[in-house]
Amino acid sequence: MSSPRVLIAGNWKMNGRLSEATSLAQAVAKGAKTGGAELLICPPFPVLASVKGVLASAPVALGAQDCHAKVSGAHTGDVAAEMLRDVGCSYVIVGHSERRTDHEETDGDVRAKAEAALRAGLKPIVCVGETLAQRDAAQTLGVVADQIAHSIPETATAANVVVAYEPVWAIGTGRTPTVEQVAEVHAKIRADLEARFADGASFRILYGGSVKGSNAAELLAVANVDGALIGGASLKAEEFLAIAAAAPDRT
Ligand code: PGA
Repeated sequence: MSSPRVLIAGNWKMNGRLSEATSLAQAVAKGAKTGGAELLICPPFPVLASVKGVLASAPVALGAQDCHAKVSGAHTGDVAAEMLRDVGCSYVIVGHSERRTDHEETDGDVRAKAEAALRAGLKPIVCVGETLAQRDAAQTLGVVADQIAHSIPETATAANVVVAYEPVWAIGTGRTPTVEQVAEVHAKIRADLEARFADGASFRILYGGSVKGSNAAELLAVANVDGALIGGASLKAEEFLAIAAAAPDRT
């Protein structure tokens, strides 16, 4: 099986006023190394263009946290994938559990957003993951398989789509699954991708949920873990860079 380059992605969520966002981006850009893991930061919409300016030619990619499925039109408050591409994004997170919960996004919505991202030339990071109740009811593998089946577009390839497994109960809680639990879900996602896509073996599957500098090496060493999606710890440049430094070098 080919091993894709590790992706370390920071999801800033609804954090970062302009001055904080630009200084955080500056610090990440300053510490970013060429080679090793690919770095990505996903700030909130209003600061994307300014952060892009700060990143300049640093080896740090820019992404957004959501997009609308349509190109343009009467959708007050929404942002099209094309607009994100226009301000310098190359990735967009879709289907984060906070979107699925706060905005009642379904797998169908997530898939439409992922298709919009592909249409605009962005790489969607499609998020999946079970709730604690689902894990306790031994439904994890079924729930995740269902989300994978219905949220990922038919035209997905390893080069243009990233998958992120984020157990909802591990997000922002400081709790992480055991390495065995991570390995089990990632192996199932890999098997499902291989069954459906010719290059399923090469898709990047990120783990997300309470990743920090001190647990990154252990989580990133798990089979079929090709990177991390990081919330809280991505708001501190040194912590984010420490996670990147803990990533296996597959370049
Ligand atoms: P966390 O968030 O790292 O703060 O747990 C991860 C995420 O929601 O992407």
